Amino acid sequence: MSGLSGLDRVVYGVEDMATSRKFFADWGLTLIRDEEDIIVFETLEKAQVVLRPMNAADLPAPIEDGPTIREVIWGADSQEDLDRFLAGIDGKVETFIGHDGMVRTIDPNGMTIGFQLTLRRDADVKGVPSNPYGMPLRVDLPAPVYERAIPTRLAHVVFFVSDLEAHREFYIEKLGFNITDEYPGRGFFSRCVKEGTHHNLFLLETPDKKKGVNHLSFGLRDIYEVMGGGIHFAKCGWDTQLGPGRHPISSAFFWYFFCPGGGLVEYYADEDYLTEKWQARKMAPSPEKYAEWAVADGIDPVTRRQKLRKVKV
Ligand SMILES: [Fe+2]
Repeated sequence: MSGLSGLDRVVYGVEDMATSRKFFADWGLTLIRDEEDIIVFETLEKAQVVLRPMNAADLPAPIEDGPTIREVIWGADSQEDLDRFLAGIDGKVETFIGHDGMVRTIDPNGMTIGFQLTLRRDADVKGVPSNPYGMPLRVDLPAPVYERAIPTRLAHVVFFVSDLEAHREFYIEKLGFNITDEYPGRGFFSRCVKEGTHHNLFLLETPDKKKGVNHLSFGLRDIYEVMGGGIHFAKCGWDTQLGPGRHPISSAFFWYFFCPGGGLVEYYADEDYLTEKWQARKMAPSPEKYAEWAVADGIDPVTRRQKLRKVKV
């Protein structure tokens, strides 16, 4: 058992602070610090997205060229949990203490990760349930139409890794994460808790073994917020990579956008919730497992219809 409870902070090294500030403000995060060389946003749960200039001397080394994620901080719910976790990794991984007193280590990809008493607090919001046949859960309550999204939490982070087996040993054997599902030889979904949402770390190895960020996912209240949030974000002028759509693995609804901080960001809702009874599945990756369905270029925020690709003739 890892003793960690989730993602507390992700630090980006970005090319243009102003563009990235606008991006994450439009995304729906709350700006809590705005200085020339550091901008801090938070989710409703008070998990943080931090922006730094990519050439800042005090940033951990990048794992790829260009703007990208430079550091990932995991939180534990109590000092006791944190102490137990740190005692559990003692002697298994090489740690160091940063200028802020936080214990950190470096994963096999070269990504700096840290551990702290969590900043997260339960958010005072609730999604609305659906009304499945024979089980009305939303009674006398219309489903909302969201004007925009306000992300509740940092759901998961996804990296391309150069050595999947080294990461399995590091995160599963040494740090005590639990594998939720896996594509043998290609990737695994893992969670730092036994009971909780489907994954908060997904690692993928591609044939070229290239390292880098794939995406950072933000948990929303419900599917309606994914739809309303995605339409609003498109209206702000940001480009869809893929979505809306649905992942069969994790069951969640998603909408991906290109991120100026590197990789993609994802609006995400209605993922599976698992306990220690969950049996990890092994399967071959396929486009159908990634997306049961998806809209390729997003929704046009004016017509509220699928964006139509311009076809050259
Ligand atoms: Fe995701």
